Amino acid sequence: MQDLIKQTKEFLKDYPSKLSLLANMSALIKEYLPDTNWVGFYLFKKDKLILGPFQGKVACLEIPLTKGVCGSSYASNLLLNVKDVHKFPGHIACDSRSNSELVIPMKGIGVLDIDSESFNRFTSIEEDVLSEVCKLLQEEMMKK
Ligand code: SME
Repeated sequence: MQDLIKQTKEFLKDYPSKLSLLANMSALIKEYLPDTNWVGFYLFKKDKLILGPFQGKVACLEIPLTKGVCGSSYASNLLLNVKDVHKFPGHIACDSRSNSELVIPMKGIGVLDIDSESFNRFTSIEEDVLSEVCKLLQEEMMKK
């Protein structure tokens, strides 16, 4: 997992656009995390989150900040590791196979959202590594 941070730093050295950076980041994270069915970004625009680059099945285009794991995470600026999404009030089921979900906020930018078909899929080590990755991305995305 530590290699994911190294690889992210490599990606940050040179890229043609923020969109292409996030597109490759979603693919990279998906590669590093077995047993995941959706990995991607929702980006903050005006007063809601809109679908950004991702790997997985077709997903909802917009999420209000008052809804879903993604909206809750962004609004509270807290990482949410949801062991059973069916017990999360307001969870939005984009892919009905998903059973657990990890959402990491990036203030001013959006969220990283990762889904798994397994219950309780995400470890605290993964939380830490992905938080570091999101911190690096957030700083980069804030640059003009
Ligand atoms: N489950 C998310 C919605 C996005 S999909 O998982 C890709 C949520 O509750 O915010």
